Amino acid sequence: NIKACIFDLDGVIVDTAKYHYLAWKRLANELGFDFTEKDNEKLKGVSRMESLEILLNLGNIKVDEETKLKLAEKKNNWYRELISKMDESEILPRVKEFINELKNSNIKVAIGSSSKNTMTILNSIKMTDFFDAIIDGNKITKAKPDPEVFLLGAEALGVNPNECVVFEDAESGIKAAKNAGMYAVGIGSKEILKEADKVIPNTNSLTLDIINF
Ligand code: BG6
Ligand code: MG
Repeated sequence: NIKACIFDLDGVIVDTAKYHYLAWKRLANELGFDFTEKDNEKLKGVSRMESLEILLNLGNIKVDEETKLKLAEKKNNWYRELISKMDESEILPRVKEFINELKNSNIKVAIGSSSKNTMTILNSIKMTDFFDAIIDGNKITKAKPDPEVFLLGAEALGVNPNECVVFEDAESGIKAAKNAGMYAVGIGSKEILKEADKVIPNTNSLTLDIINF
């Protein structure tokens, strides 16, 4: 019996996944190679520095640690520029309604995100107060697919992992949820999110019967 829902942020609450993609693509192009949406799937849910490693590998580029930090900072500045104009209008369909339905059913809600920009985004879309707990990229030491972010979420909410449902748009995030021993709902493509317990095409399909299984 389900007591809590843990939501990924980027690509689940808001469509910031597209801004991450644009910023990484700009970096790749500047480094002289192309970066497609298919390449981008591997970066979803993964931390900033690990994403950079994957990107540099794709472009066959080798740089020292200092340069890596500079490249990551450059990407993050572009990304922050893209999200700076964000407001409530970018909250994905039915997300707020669904969270209110969960609360009315006495289900706790948390954010479990790898992003260090989580608080900036939640503040711009005015949703910070919606969540009983927020675990973000600043609170974790191991990125998805490691279960740390979701286990810390369950702990903060005072529930057991097997009482939690996770909502994720990334392959690494579904793996993290399964590694945590939680029920995983994928939002997006069935081919990509094949390890999820259930997949819905988009947030329009967020309804209470998903957690009444
Ligand atoms: C995840 C995104 O939520 O956060 C990844 O899916 C991103 O694409 C990661 O790389 C880290 O984000 P940030 O904002 O700390 O660079
Ligand atoms: Mg995501």
